[in-house]
Amino acid sequence: MLTKDITIQHLETENDVEQHLELMRSVFGQNSRVDLQVRKWIEHHPTMTLKDFFVVKHRDKIVACLNLIPFRWSIGGIPLKVAELACVATLPEYRHHGLQRELTCEYHKRVSEEGYDLSVIEGIPYYYRQFGYEYALPLQEQTRIDINKMPDYKNVYAIRPFTGKDISRAGQLLAQVQGKFYVHSVRDEEIWEMQEETGMVADYEFEGFAVEEDEEMKGYFRTSENPESNELVLREITDVDQSMAQSIISFLKQAGKERGLVTLVATTGYTDSFTEHLMATGEARQGRLYAWQLRVTDYASMFLKMKVLFEKRLAMSTFRHLTGKLNFNFYRYTVQVSLEDGTVTDVRRLETNEDRTMRFNPAVFTQLLFGYRDRAELENVYQDFLVRPSHRHLIDVLFPKLPSYIHTDY
Ligand SMILES: CC(C)(COP(=O)(O)OP(=O)(O)OC[C@H]1O[C@@H](n2cnc3c(N)ncnc32)[C@H](O)[C@@H]1OP(=O)(O)O)[C@@H](O)C(=O)NCCC(=O)NCCS
Repeated sequence: MLTKDITIQHLETENDVEQHLELMRSVFGQNSRVDLQVRKWIEHHPTMTLKDFFVVKHRDKIVACLNLIPFRWSIGGIPLKVAELACVATLPEYRHHGLQRELTCEYHKRVSEEGYDLSVIEGIPYYYRQFGYEYALPLQEQTRIDINKMPDYKNVYAIRPFTGKDISRAGQLLAQVQGKFYVHSVRDEEIWEMQEETGMVADYEFEGFAVEEDEEMKGYFRTSENPESNELVLREITDVDQSMAQSIISFLKQAGKERGLVTLVATTGYTDSFTEHLMATGEARQGRLYAWQLRVTDYASMFLKMKVLFEKRLAMSTFRHLTGKLNFNFYRYTVQVSLEDGTVTDVRRLETNEDRTMRFNPAVFTQLLFGYRDRAELENVYQDFLVRPSHRHLIDVLFPKLPSYIHTDY
């Protein structure tokens, strides 16, 4: 649908920025705060530039857009370069003319050219499947408890507002929490600073608190409020023991009551220690969760990146001396992994699909790769996910199911 009058560009001028913000307000709602988030990125993000904002212009008017947020993840300790697709919007009168298809194609070109291992989105259901995205990491795990039903504990810690000076220690505490997640994000110091300076994470305002014992910071947490639904939201928290969990519960209960809020909602994942403590009260409940949608740029490169991890897993199993070629048949092509005495010696893509020992729906395989589901679960559900009995244990060794959590780093 691109013509002489309809072109793909990037934001360039102040007028472009204003038009883009207006587009955000008109598509996502005047009170959505998506425009504030975009302004924050433009003015404060340490690495994003106007080139990361892709737009379609009809003559001089911006009618559709999306943007790329760069960030870093880790899978089993291996760093991944990740692009998040965000703020996808087309003006109603321009929809269903293929404008987003064109923009997404440009975006994926950039993702490949700039060597991103992965593109991810938290977005609307189903739509992104057509562009190769698959649900493959937990998102929006929420644990809710009525503030009135929170137990009464004594606060034995000093809890005070978080300041910029706490960033360095907080970074260590965050890394400690993230150590227990297979896939997690990695927050650079500049992102910490952007969040502290703007008082915003993503599009919401937050408050940070440091938890101290003998003037030493032992933990921190972040909260925000949803006044329209009377919710106090716990957005982020470090690892806690019983007494720290009880002190934070006491603090949050008091803060919630003082502000006239009714429910505490912890969005800190189902496997973090505070949430486990909250569930153990018997009063909290967990809701249905959503999932991150992922698109792996290239499985062969990804396997190569994960070589050390695969070797470690083989070394801890009966396959520690494995020699041979493993053909991951993705139906249209095969990724061949060569092994010698448990070491990966080569990974290459072959344009064949002859070896039928292991056949994988390539989208669904993302779930296995990221530890979201295991081989047996996927074989039960997907008829095009097929591993012969001879290779089942090996696949289970290489791809275990593990807990993951992505902290918000923008
Ligand atoms: C979703 C949205 C961005 C699509 O924009 P668009 O410019 O109309 O998209 P395109 O015309 O390029 O459509 C691409 C394809 O998606 C299909 N499609 C469009 N909207 C869809 C939807 N909501 N769900 C599923 N498929 C959809 C189109 O039919 C088209 O497929 P085709 O080429 O096979 O016909 C637009 O409807 C929008 O701005 N919605 C409101 C904001 C929103 O929800 N954004 C997503 C936030 S994550």
